[in-house]
Amino acid sequence: MWKIGPIEIESRAILAPMAGVTGHPFRMLCREQGAGLVYTEFVSANGIIRENEKTLDMMKFKEAERPIGVQIFGETPAVLAQSAKYIEETVKPDIIDLNFGCPVPKVTKRGAGSAILKDLPLMDEVAKAVVEAVSIPVTAKIRAGWNSGCIIAPAAAEALQDAGIAAITLHPRTTKQLYTGEADWGLIAETRKAISIPLIGNGDIKSAQDAKRMMDETGCDAVMIGRRALGNPWIFKEINEYLEKGTIPEPIRLIDRVKLCHRHLHMEALSIGQFRGTNYIKKHLSWYLKGFPGASAYRQRLYSIMEFAAMDGELNKIIEELESDRELANYTYREEGPLFPNVPNSRDNY
Ligand SMILES: Cc1cc2nc3c(=O)[nH]c(=O)nc-3n(C[C@H](O)[C@H](O)[C@H](O)COP(=O)(O)O)c2cc1C
Repeated sequence: MWKIGPIEIESRAILAPMAGVTGHPFRMLCREQGAGLVYTEFVSANGIIRENEKTLDMMKFKEAERPIGVQIFGETPAVLAQSAKYIEETVKPDIIDLNFGCPVPKVTKRGAGSAILKDLPLMDEVAKAVVEAVSIPVTAKIRAGWNSGCIIAPAAAEALQDAGIAAITLHPRTTKQLYTGEADWGLIAETRKAISIPLIGNGDIKSAQDAKRMMDETGCDAVMIGRRALGNPWIFKEINEYLEKGTIPEPIRLIDRVKLCHRHLHMEALSIGQFRGTNYIKKHLSWYLKGFPGASAYRQRLYSIMEFAAMDGELNKIIEELESDRELANYTYREEGPLFPNVPNSRDNY
């Protein structure tokens, strides 16, 4: 058990905010598998104060997801503060997270996301305004800095701590790097020395062993998992067991993978409607259904389906087929390969 402010967190493995991915159903599945804390994808502070319906929908969550943080982005301190207050009063999450890490030009051009790392006085103003506006803990997610000539994570973290921020997540790549090169875990260790509030390390964790290695090498309090959780919510269970006992659970069987995918479809249908849910699930499907013999044939059977009833029926059929082929049903594999450098999503490759 560890804490962010008064919020008690059971596991040191946290689900990263991911635009177009970490909606309510996926967050729920990750919590069930042992993620200690989950975040919404980044939500526009401007959209919130305008009470834009789509924006407000992005913040909805279920009680079972707690503890949960809502992540906001913007460039104007007063707007961010006002939106944070609105969120605290209406959505009532456990944490507000400030996005100071988004490298997408559409966002940074406005001075939001990781562009704020070029203007530490503005970052300070934003952090103080938001901390002042709400009574729940405010966390911040930062990158290493704007480019290799401007690595400011330790100094930014210290300033954020002084501004009243309750915990910091560091993804130690620069904005310019996007997802290229390697996350510089050494910078997490350096930042750890600069602050006393909890530090969450993030970047390039591919396995439970990597998670432990990041904690051992950097002294970070917790790890945040992004891309390795895609189609693989079991990563949280693996990390928890490895941190607690030094062992790793058996990899998931193919039939359980398909069953979870089927359940995920139903959760999406309830969350965003049957038609949207059916088409949206194809992205997750492609992550769940890979790495086993005949995977692409299964994906082909599902990709062209547009209607919920047909998708539901086809997944049921696959489950039945697997039940009559125990060898294939029991096939297991663990996601271990490289992480996709850039996962396409609805927000222009976050
Ligand atoms: C599809 C996608 C969407 C993302 N969206 C967000 C986001 O909304 N907010 C945020 O702070 N980071 C976002 N990120 C960055 C991740 O939270 C994380 O910092 C990054 O993927 C590095 O961690 P990893 O190596 O474990 O994937 C996104 C990453 C991906 C791949």
